[in-house]
Amino acid sequence: MSLTFTDIKKTSPEKINTLENEGFANSINSSKITKRFLSKFEGFSIKQRFYIGHIYANMVVDQADIVSFIIKEKYRRKGFGTILFVKFISTLKNKGVKEFFLEVSEKNTDAQKFYNRFGFKKIGYRKNYYKTNSGKQNAYLLKLQT
Ligand SMILES: CC(C)(COP(=O)(O)OP(=O)(O)OC[C@H]1O[C@@H](n2cnc3c(N)ncnc32)[C@H](O)[C@@H]1OP(=O)(O)O)[C@@H](O)C(=O)NCCC(=O)NCCS
Repeated sequence: MSLTFTDIKKTSPEKINTLENEGFANSINSSKITKRFLSKFEGFSIKQRFYIGHIYANMVVDQADIVSFIIKEKYRRKGFGTILFVKFISTLKNKGVKEFFLEVSEKNTDAQKFYNRFGFKKIGYRKNYYKTNSGKQNAYLLKLQT
């Protein structure tokens, strides 16, 4: 079964909303994703027969801030995140991006391991960056120089 990538601007906002509500269930984020919201970003969703996940970023000249990256729970740890991330990084590099930035919760050691493998480095620390149902969480600011 082949994998399909879809431009984030053409991805169903409902699919993105559903997955983000599942995956970031503990976080307090009332904003609903719309087609108009997605039109500002660069990124992709990935599916096989079913929706697997997505990534999108705010790109300004040669910098990209990753806003969201998530793989549906039952498909994790099977390499889909890596496939999507490699496609995303190479596409944005071709568009001129040289630096990628993202925030990751200091508690999210799984994602930190993922980003480490790609060469992201910690360049900052943001106190109380995430608001969750169980309180605020600090975040690291990571950067990838390509
Ligand atoms: C982070 C995320 C997108 C990774 O997607 P994935 O498809 O599971 O990633 P992969 O299968 O390609 O994993 C690649 C490598 O990353 C590391 N990694 C990924 N998940 C990990 C985990 N749960 N524990 C430890 N290492 C992990 C491993 O080194 C893994 O390689 P390995 O399986 O050969 O050991 C996924 O875990 C996810 O959606 N998490 C919830 C949302 C999230 O935290 N997003 C990031 C917000 S900043």
